[in-house]
Amino acid sequence: MKLITELKPKDKLGKLPKDESTLEFGKLFTDHMFIMKYSESKAKEKDKGWYEPKIQPYGPLTLDPAAIVFHYSQEVFEGLKAYRWKNGEIYLFRPMKNLERMTTSGERLVMPPFDKEFVLNSLKELVKIEKEWVPHAPMTSLYIRPTYIGTQAKLGVQPSSDYLLYIILSPVGAYYASGFSPVKILVEEQYVRAAPGGVGFTKAGGNYAASLLAGKKAHDKGYTQVLWLDAAEKKYIEEVGTMNMFFVIDGKIVTPPLTGSILPGVTRDSVLSMARDWGMKVEERLIKIDEVITASENGTLNEAFGSGTAAVVTPVGELCYKDRCMVINGGKVGKVTQKLYDALVGIQYGQTKDPYGWMIKVC
Ligand SMILES: Cc1ncc(COP(=O)(O)O)c(C=O)c1O
Repeated sequence: MKLITELKPKDKLGKLPKDESTLEFGKLFTDHMFIMKYSESKAKEKDKGWYEPKIQPYGPLTLDPAAIVFHYSQEVFEGLKAYRWKNGEIYLFRPMKNLERMTTSGERLVMPPFDKEFVLNSLKELVKIEKEWVPHAPMTSLYIRPTYIGTQAKLGVQPSSDYLLYIILSPVGAYYASGFSPVKILVEEQYVRAAPGGVGFTKAGGNYAASLLAGKKAHDKGYTQVLWLDAAEKKYIEEVGTMNMFFVIDGKIVTPPLTGSILPGVTRDSVLSMARDWGMKVEERLIKIDEVITASENGTLNEAFGSGTAAVVTPVGELCYKDRCMVINGGKVGKVTQKLYDALVGIQYGQTKDPYGWMIKVC
């Protein structure tokens, strides 16, 4: 396939705000997007059904109101970032991990595979074209949102015969308005996010729609997000709204295993790699909420934090469950959380060596 490029006239291009500290998460979009189409009727051809890959001006999509995505949520997405280094160069963080996860998510929703190398090269091309949009201020970045939807106009629950895969870009500041400071999380008792055998391990939009009510109720009560428990017994820790969850208990880092109901976070994987390399004790295992409460009571709950592309490494200062709140590490950022945050941010912004080869240069 050959990537087609149709750019906006120079005098129509938008700009980053002068004051980059005003950037909010996901509100502003760049001038161009990548888009490519799929049709089952072309699937026997050499590009396996994918055609017309294009970088074009950002703008609305025209879809039939009967499009499958609107009715049966055949949609998956991704989130990754491009970072501007001090020397002006621009890098992506482990982009292939996101494209692999998008393929896995798509497979679960019966969506056809795509050429990941081709999409990565197109993404690099798009970011190169939009390089002026990658912000400069500390902790800002260009958030990248690949999206994959079923577009066939047909009612009836079945996989779509046609798809669009597109990528949009948004210059962003910190995900949480509070920046790198401890957040307050509510352990959700009533609602669940994902059940065994379901789609919890995918980044399907439907997972997030199902989480909105619990999130809103928690937000209205002053919490940043909810911590989900397992669907079957409501005893085991799963993950937070948009972060994987870690505890430091008696000096050991513990995090729930990837059993199919939580998202296999790219940041989670990175945190685990770094911690193991530093010789820290790390356990991926089931964690009962009762174990966390006991550890809090007997003084062995040292720290808690979440990890995610948008949230980076976010300390949890307070965890509330059934009318009681555990204040963790005096509500302050813990040593392990700080060390992981510094190391990750150091690699992402090119301030420290990247021994893992995680950073992929765009330009
Ligand atoms: C439900 C959920 N869990 C975990 C994460 C963290 O994943 P990653 O580190 O790949 O961003 C996210 C990211 O958005 C998420 O939505």
